[in-house]
Amino acid sequence: MKKESAGGCPFSSDWGSPNVSKVGDLTYNDYLKIPDLLKLQIPQSSPPHHDELLFIIIHQAYELWFKLILHELDNTVSYMQKNEILRAQHFVKRVVEIMKLLVSQIHILETMTPIEFLEFRNHLMPASGFQSLQFREIEFLLGLKDERYFHFFKNSPEILQKLTERLNKPDLYSVYFQMLRNLGYSVPSDPQNEKNNTKTLQALLPIYQNPEKNLPLYLLTESLVELDETLALWREHHVRVVERIIGFKKGTGGSSGVEYLKSTTSKKCFPALWEVRTILEKPEKKE
Ligand code: HEM
Repeated sequence: MKKESAGGCPFSSDWGSPNVSKVGDLTYNDYLKIPDLLKLQIPQSSPPHHDELLFIIIHQAYELWFKLILHELDNTVSYMQKNEILRAQHFVKRVVEIMKLLVSQIHILETMTPIEFLEFRNHLMPASGFQSLQFREIEFLLGLKDERYFHFFKNSPEILQKLTERLNKPDLYSVYFQMLRNLGYSVPSDPQNEKNNTKTLQALLPIYQNPEKNLPLYLLTESLVELDETLALWREHHVRVVERIIGFKKGTGGSSGVEYLKSTTSKKCFPALWEVRTILEKPEKKE
């Protein structure tokens, strides 16, 4: 053991002078509510199955990140409404980085053997990812407003109210088109309507035909595409992990399981931003 120096400090000089908090000072634990946070992992199995703690913590970690994603995307919407393109892009990039983490995080669950999961799976019934309000809010905020998902919250009035509020709020995709209109791009009034698809793609074309001339918009648009891509990747990775752990068993939420999850992997939040590349043509040779 190191000897204490004359001043009573047990650290060497390269530690600087670490503080000792005084009674009443704000501490790490007070600020972050760590004792409260660590009380929130309550297994359903009894005696608790060893792996249930992993299962609880991974879901709670996702929900914390979902909370931040909603916070950042709400902020993005406000910046887009003020036509502040690069500020909006800054926050979309943050969400993309979070999403990349969320894609890789799901694989921690593969360290759980299928048989060990079965040992406590029954205790979770009928709870299911279908009931993640924040996941559905993220979809709604990105423009995927599928009202069939209200079904899973029929008996939870508070959640229904929150989801209804999300449904009625402007989504990122519509706000993006509104911003383009404000900036002088000739976006049709109902850009997401199938019959206006060609006009919508034509309006987006200059951004992709000439990225240098439209750089801030190009960067924002591509960050939105990256966000859409990372969400789709999360769906892909989740369904692979699910198949590896429960095979083709039905979900605890009553769906067909893997088959249902596979059907969601083709969802796109911003379809026109993907499609515009298909109509892109090689530019005339520059002088
Ligand atoms: C052992 C690990 C997991 C298994 C076996 C599993 C299984 C499933 C299944 C079968 C469904 C379809 C709905 C149902 O019938 O219940 C589902 C949906 C869902 N799960 Fe998981 N899951 C796992 C881990 C996770 C994790 C870590 C998260 C992170 C939040 C998550 C989030 C979701 C969400 C948000 C849905 C709804 C997806 C949608 O409707 O598009 N799952 N899960």
